[in-house]
Amino acid sequence: MLSHTYNLEDDIAKVLLSEDRIAGRIAELGEEITRDYAGKDLMLVGILKGCSLFMADLVRQIKIPLAYDFVAVSSYGADTKTSGVVRILKDLDESVESKHVLIVEDIIDTGLTLRLSYLLDNIRARRAASVKVCTLLDKPSRRRVEVPVDYRGFTVEDQFVVGYGMDYQGRYRSLPFIGLLKPEVYGGG
Ligand code: IMP
Ligand code: MG
Repeated sequence: MLSHTYNLEDDIAKVLLSEDRIAGRIAELGEEITRDYAGKDLMLVGILKGCSLFMADLVRQIKIPLAYDFVAVSSYGADTKTSGVVRILKDLDESVESKHVLIVEDIIDTGLTLRLSYLLDNIRARRAASVKVCTLLDKPSRRRVEVPVDYRGFTVEDQFVVGYGMDYQGRYRSLPFIGLLKPEVYGGG
């Protein structure tokens, strides 16, 4: 039993991006990616777990043949921030050699977890033909380490968001929209 009952939608103070807005923007991103990668061997690489819903919707809006895979990296541990050490917890199943890789992220915040720059270097070293980054959300005001963003769904203010794959303490990923939590949710209890 959970000590706190998560009521999902009852805990949301405000919907920032509705299901419709998210779907509309993903359709546009899909068109762009379809155009840019026509005739290329495209492989999407999602960073677990936040990207999962975005990945599922995005691939269905890309109208060229593609493959997709996921990686899991240690990212938010104290380790990562202080030492810059990133560990791959789940690696790609197949080679990316000579493939055009598009890394799929849920949100780029401070950039400090180094997951992205690490993955970019790592995938380049495996002789991918190209490596680019697609993020659903970008919080540029918080950026402290520069990371390249080639495709961006929405730019958001410096607020903690949940839903559509993004969590607070492992919860709320399943919400179909992106929203802000009520302050009392952070109070614990
Ligand atoms: P950063 O860019 O190194 O700060 O880390 C980005 C990662 O932190 C994302 O992939 C998310 O997993 C998590 N994150 C950052 N901001 C938020 C947020 O507003 N809501 C939920 N997760 C977030
Ligand atoms: Mg998270």
